[in-house]
Amino acid sequence: MINPMIAANWKMHKTIPEAVAFAKQLKEKFPKPGDVDIVIAPPFTALFPVVEVLKDSPIHVSAQNMHWEEKGAYTGEISAAMLVDAGCEFIIIGHSERRTLFGETGGMLNKKIHAALKSGLKPIFCIGETLEERESGATFRIIQKQIKEGLNNIISDDIRKIALAYEPIWAIGTGKTATPPQAQEVHSFIRKTIATDLEYDRASEIVIIYGGSVNPENTDSLMNQPDINGALVGGAGLDFGSFADIIKISER
Ligand code: PGA
Repeated sequence: MINPMIAANWKMHKTIPEAVAFAKQLKEKFPKPGDVDIVIAPPFTALFPVVEVLKDSPIHVSAQNMHWEEKGAYTGEISAAMLVDAGCEFIIIGHSERRTLFGETGGMLNKKIHAALKSGLKPIFCIGETLEERESGATFRIIQKQIKEGLNNIISDDIRKIALAYEPIWAIGTGKTATPPQAQEVHSFIRKTIATDLEYDRASEIVIIYGGSVNPENTDSLMNQPDINGALVGGAGLDFGSFADIIKISER
């Protein structure tokens, strides 16, 4: 049985006091390890204060981006080791906003995933197609390409540390969710691709979460799909009540 993962990606939102207040509420509401793995991804400035609040709590902290080099003259960048130093356990890699707004390519994401694993961070690797790609029937081809590029040369022992997040770009922040069967179809394809193209024989144990306008109303129907193991939540993850509801609904 895979533990569902519910992760909040706060993007460029929340000051340190706001992030700390949210983390305190979350810790109070979910004090013990349950059957949902809860992850929050604050902006860089709030990472360390949030980690401090969540010490002795089962809630995990993720960063939203990193550079693949260990250190050096990369003004404005943060390394995996620095994130580990701040207490992060997870790292979101390849979010579509990084790909489209900041020009991150499959090759760059592959370097980031290698660097993250080497430092002990667990990647949440995002993939997903645009509306144009979906409408032209290219969804599976795009998903397969993103998996092959991003996870190129990752050894089996490391694949199990990676969660994949399927986020159709047309569903992010738009209020449009993929229907549960639409999402299930792609999740099942992702699992198959991991098994066949990456020749990973434990693909059934890989956590594959869905993202794109997830909210308390649609969580249950998404989570009922056999290959959907959780959610990467943007907008609804900024509101404590909505995020806590999504976690509660995902408990089995
Ligand atoms: P959304 O964002 O839930 O606001 O659509 C999801 C994401 O970008 O991870």
